[in-house]
Parts: sequence; structure tokens; C-alpha cells
Amino acid sequence: SFSVQISSTGQIVEIPAHQSIVESLRSAGVECETSCEAGVCGTCQTRYLSGEVDHQDLILSEADRQDQILICCSRAKPGSMLVLDI
Ligand code: FES
Repeated sequence: SFSVQISSTGQIVEIPAHQSIVESLRSAGVECETSCEAGVCGTCQTRYLSGEVDHQDLILSEADRQDQILICCSRAKPGSMLVLDI
């Protein structure tokens, strides 16, 4: 698992190995807009401020990946904290 912090509120959500970031955020009451949930449409694209991202999407460029994550499919390094700009 790893943690996600919502920068605007400081809320920290634990992301278990079997759940996506989107699923875990929704369970914690944080709304997320998605469409494909498969890393191809970009609807869930979110800026991140810090963290070691394990990118699983099929559309972001290497430049985008420096500060953007598709939260329907990508993850962070186990044990780490990912801070989202939301
Ligand atoms: Fe389509 Fe995440 S919802 S890429």
C-alpha cells in the first residue's frame, strides 16, 4: 500500500494493493471524475506535487509524467506518499 495526500485539505488516504487511487479516494468521500478507468482517455488526469509515481497509463508523455498522473490506473511506490494537487 501507499498513501495519497489531498493538498487542499491535508487529508491522507491509504491506498491498498488491491484498490486504485480513484476507488480509495471515492471510498474516503473524495469525488473523482473518470471515464475509461483504463489509462487511455485522460479524464482522471491529476497534477501531483510530490511522490514516486509508478505510471501505468498509455497516453502521457515523459514530460507530462513529471507532474501529472492518471489516478484510475497509476500508483505510487509502496510505502511512499503521493501528494495530489486537488
Ligand atoms: Fe480514463 Fe483514467 S479515467 S485515463
